[in-house]
Amino acid sequence: MTSFEEQSLSSEPRRVLVTGGAGFIGSNFVHYWCQNHKSDRVIVLDALTYAGNRRNLIDLENNENFRFVQGDICDRSLVEALLQEENIDTVAHFAAESHVDRSILGPDAFVRTNVVGTFTLLESFRHHWDRAGNNSEYRFLHVSTDEVYGSLGPNDHPFTETTNYAPNSPYSASKAGSDHLARAYYHTYGMPTITTNCSNNYGPYHFPEKLIPLTCINILLGKPLPVYGDGQNIRDWLYVGDHCRALDVVINKGKPGETYNIGGNNEVKNIDLVHTLCKVMDELAPKLPVRPSQELITFVKDRAGHDRRYAIDATKIKTELGWTPQQTLEGGIHQTIEWYLTHQEWWQPLLSKEYQDYYASVYA
Ligand code: NAD
Ligand code: DAU
Repeated sequence: MTSFEEQSLSSEPRRVLVTGGAGFIGSNFVHYWCQNHKSDRVIVLDALTYAGNRRNLIDLENNENFRFVQGDICDRSLVEALLQEENIDTVAHFAAESHVDRSILGPDAFVRTNVVGTFTLLESFRHHWDRAGNNSEYRFLHVSTDEVYGSLGPNDHPFTETTNYAPNSPYSASKAGSDHLARAYYHTYGMPTITTNCSNNYGPYHFPEKLIPLTCINILLGKPLPVYGDGQNIRDWLYVGDHCRALDVVINKGKPGETYNIGGNNEVKNIDLVHTLCKVMDELAPKLPVRPSQELITFVKDRAGHDRRYAIDATKIKTELGWTPQQTLEGGIHQTIEWYLTHQEWWQPLLSKEYQDYYASVYA
């Protein structure tokens, strides 16, 4: 047996509670998990906020190992009942308010869901885990972000697991608060929490408020492509399928109490990314209102407190758990654009009045 196999836990089917499973990464994770762990039971708990979409999971509705529950992670009695009723042994916690621009417009929901919601889950799971005799195979995976580490200078080393926390937006500050709670539950109670800090994801089911889907959809609609500030901000892009594989190895082989950074090794300036999206869209889309679509690029007022650069050093998860990203940025962008081209019925209804009002308040 290799040391990699030795670290793996029992192969008994898991009973997984996925919070935020109707959102972008959560729904990709649920599809991934149901595909790769067919004997496991998967229960999604999601409040279906503007970012949650039941249709993301529609093809799983007839799967007897899958259940969807609409509810709020801040609702303690609901969370406790669900943990008990479904005899949950694994929590994969994605539920969050996730968009930086919305956190600037209205931080309240971010503190409520990201801090109080995570606390509610941790505290409910602690009692549930106590009742299970502190079973060492239980896991609480807390999915977090690289934004908790703040902003890098051009020559700084990418974020490692020991980089100091320095969150700059209400979103990242609320995620940092939730990370500290997850850490404290391990150190104080010995509860088997693991935290992952991941870079920018992209792929199918990505809500149109974020840079990549917003750019793709605006190209298709012939609308301006807003680039904040000078467009020189850098993000490290990770294909969402690679993220799901990373979370699988963390759940099954990660060490309780540890944190793991997950990144795509794909640092790109925003303006270069938008140019790439325009180029690939021009190649793949049969009809476009404006071609070449780069004519739509429009520099707009910068985001308040805009972090300049994020980059992840993913050495720990590579050396300890054997994970590396597989998708190239070029391949991932092609696949993502194909998905938005062939799933117009998915994104059209999301451009609702609420979305138009939000859009007007950010880009006015
Ligand atoms: P998302 O906004 O697409 O989805 C969030 C989901 O959580 C939605 O389905 C929403 O309905 C649900 N939700 C919100 N508040 C809730 C509540 N109070 N109770 C129950 N459900 C609630 O987010 P995402 O982009 O899929 O991100 C998922 C997680 O991954 C978040 O914790 C985020 O901080 C983290 N993360 C995201 C990225 C990224 O690039 N998107 C990168 C790193 C980490
Ligand atoms: O780094 C991980 C984080 O990535 C996650 O924790 C967040 O949940 C996720 O939303 C994402 O945050 P960002 O703020 O980096 O993603 P967003 O897609 O909003 O923006 C990416 C970059 O593009 C950022 O530098 C801001 C810029 N941008 C964004 C939008 C929406 C623009 O220039 N124009 C835009 O219209």
